[in-house]
Amino acid sequence: MNNVSRREFVKAASAVTAVTATTLPAWAVQEKREPIKIGFIGCGGRGTGAANQALSANDTAVIWAMGDAFEDRLNSSLTSLVGEKGTRAEVPKERQFVGFDAFQKVIDSGVDLVILTTPPHFRPQHIAAAVKAKKHVFCEKPMAVDGTGVRSVMESTKLAKENNTNLMSGFCWRYSYPLRAMFEQLHNGAIGDIESYFATYYAAPLWTKPRKESWSDMEWQMRNWVHFDWLSGDHIVEQACHSIDKINWAMKNVTPVSATAVGGRLMHEGNDRGNVYDHFGVVFEYADGRRTHLHCRQMPFCYNDNNDFITGATGTCVVNGWTGAPVFTGSSDWTYQGENPNMYQVEHNELQAAIRGDTPTINDGDFMAQSTMMAILGREAAYTGQKISYSDMLASTTRLGPKEYAFSELAMPTVAKPGVTKLNR
Ligand SMILES: NC(=O)c1ccc[n+]([C@@H]2O[C@H](COP(=O)([O-])OP(=O)(O)OC[C@H]3O[C@@H](n4cnc5c(N)ncnc54)[C@H](O)[C@@H]3O)[C@@H](O)[C@H]2O)c1
Repeated sequence: MNNVSRREFVKAASAVTAVTATTLPAWAVQEKREPIKIGFIGCGGRGTGAANQALSANDTAVIWAMGDAFEDRLNSSLTSLVGEKGTRAEVPKERQFVGFDAFQKVIDSGVDLVILTTPPHFRPQHIAAAVKAKKHVFCEKPMAVDGTGVRSVMESTKLAKENNTNLMSGFCWRYSYPLRAMFEQLHNGAIGDIESYFATYYAAPLWTKPRKESWSDMEWQMRNWVHFDWLSGDHIVEQACHSIDKINWAMKNVTPVSATAVGGRLMHEGNDRGNVYDHFGVVFEYADGRRTHLHCRQMPFCYNDNNDFITGATGTCVVNGWTGAPVFTGSSDWTYQGENPNMYQVEHNELQAAIRGDTPTINDGDFMAQSTMMAILGREAAYTGQKISYSDMLASTTRLGPKEYAFSELAMPTVAKPGVTKLNR
C-alpha cells in the first residue's frame, strides 16, 4: 500500500470527522503525517500501560480521547502518560469523558483505534459499540463474564470481519515470540500428538480498596471489581484465562465438549473480598476423549507459580508463563534461540502495522471468545458442582450484574454454593 492509500484506509475504517490541521499536534503538522488517533476506555493500570505501548508503537500515534467511570482515575492516568510521553498524550479537557457513557463519547470523538481496558463485565458492550462504529479495537482479556457476553463478542467478531477492521485481544502470550515458536514446534509434532495439558496459575490475592463514606454500593463494588464475579468473572476468568488461552492454543482452538471442576473460598473473608472463590481445579474434556487441566489459586503465603506442563506421545514440554522459556524433553530438545521483545509492546506494534495497512487485518475474535468461554465454563462447573457442556454454557441466559448502571444501592452478591447454585440464574 502506498502512503496515500494507507491514509485512506485509516480514514475509511474510522469514519473520522474532518480534522483540521490546526487541531493536529505540532509535530504531526511539521512532519506532514497523519496521526493514528487513539481513545482508551478504562484508565487504570492496564489502560495506561496499553496507551503507553500504543504511543511507543508508532510515532504517528496520539492519545486523542480518554474515558473512565471515575474522574480521579482518568486524571492520574493522564498525568502519568503526559509525564512519560509528553505532548502526544495531552488530551484536552473536551475529550476527557467520565461516567457510564464515557465509552460512547470516546468512540464518537473521532478516534481511529479504541483500547478497551475496563473491568471485563463492560467489555461486550464496549466491543460492540466500537466495532459498530468501525473503529479498530484492542480489547484486554477476558472478553466477558458470562455466556450472554460471549455471544455478543462473537457477533462483534463477525461484524469486524465484515468491516475489515482490526480486533486484537489482550491474550498477550499469543504475541510472545518464544511462545509462538514453541506452539509451532508443538503443532509440528515435536513431542508427538498432544495427549494432555496441565496449567497452573498460583498467585497471591489481589488488592482491596477500603470503602469511603461517600461511595455508593455500586462505586464500592466497581472500585473493588476484582472481588465481584459480575465485574471480573472471578479470578479463573480474570487472571487464569491466560493459561486457559494457552490450553486452547495447544488444542488448535478446538474447544472442549464439557468441564467438571472443584472450587471454593477458604481464605477470603468478609465483604472486602466480594463473592469470588480463591481456588479452582478444572478438567476440560474433549470430543476425542483427551483432557486438559487447570489449577488456579489466589491465596496469601502459599507457593506461587504459573506453569504449563504439556505431555505428548513422544515427549514433554514445560513452560513458565512468567519467564517464557520452554523446556522440551523426549523426542525433542528444541530450545528457543531468538529475540524476546516485550509481548505487550509487540501487540501494539503489530496492531498499528495492520491499521496502517502494512500487514493483513488482525481478527483475534474467534479464539478470544472461545478462551473466555472456557474460563467461564470452568467457573460455572465449580460454582454449580455440575458437569456442564460447552454448548449449554454458550447458550446460558445468565447475565451477571445489574440491569442498569447507576451509582446507587446494589445488593451484595452471594457466594456460589456447589450443588445449589444453578447455571441459568
Ligand atoms: N493482559 C494482561 O496481562 C493484563 C494485565 C492487567 C490487566 N489486564 C486486564 O485489563 C483490564 C483492566 O485491568 P486493570 O488492572 O487496568 O484494572 P484497573 O482497576 O487498574 O483499571 C480499570 C479502570 O476501568 C475503569 N472503569 C470501571 N468501569 C468502567 C466503565 N464502565 N467505563 C469506563 N471506565 C470504567 C476504572 O475506574 C479503572 O480506572 C482487566 O480486564 C484485566 O483483566 C490484563
